[in-house]
Amino acid sequence: MKDSLVRVVYVSRNTITGDDEHISREVVKILDSARASNASSGVTGALMFNRGLFAQVLEGPPDRVEQTFERIQCDERHAEVSLLAYDVITERSFNQWSMAYLGAKSGRPAKLLDLAQDTGFDPKRLDGNEVHAALQAMLLEADH
Ligand SMILES: Cc1cc2nc3c(=O)[nH]c(=O)nc-3n(C[C@H](O)[C@H](O)[C@H](O)COP(=O)(O)O)c2cc1C
Repeated sequence: MKDSLVRVVYVSRNTITGDDEHISREVVKILDSARASNASSGVTGALMFNRGLFAQVLEGPPDRVEQTFERIQCDERHAEVSLLAYDVITERSFNQWSMAYLGAKSGRPAKLLDLAQDTGFDPKRLDGNEVHAALQAMLLEADH
């Protein structure tokens, strides 16, 4: 289908080492390149980072989302990339965001950690829809 849209939700473990400042700088680099590349390929989404854990939603045309996710999986700045959800969607949740960012500083990732706690902190057992909903809610709160 020409105009079909999909959504990928995954979690991964950060492998960037060093002090907080170094890690923040590396995350800014990831975001800068992600935003540039996503803007040109029609991918939108949100990225959450909380020291040990990344959670990301990617949405857009299937081929573009899949190519992006393939590249992301090869990235050595994280490991144990676990796909939580791959769904056909009818509309985007992060329409205005080439990549929204929710970092630890805002204190917002707590919501996701609450979810992780339910799984005994096994990220692979997180529910993709819940992670997506949590990122959306966190972004709405951050907007206000
Ligand atoms: C947690 C994380 C999230 C990323 N998100 C994106 C993204 O949304 N879009 C993107 O193009 N690259 C993203 N990247 C960067 C890609 O993994 C990759 O480095 C970049 O696309 C350049 O790929 P290339 O060197 O094969 O051209 C992310 C990397 C990490 C570690």
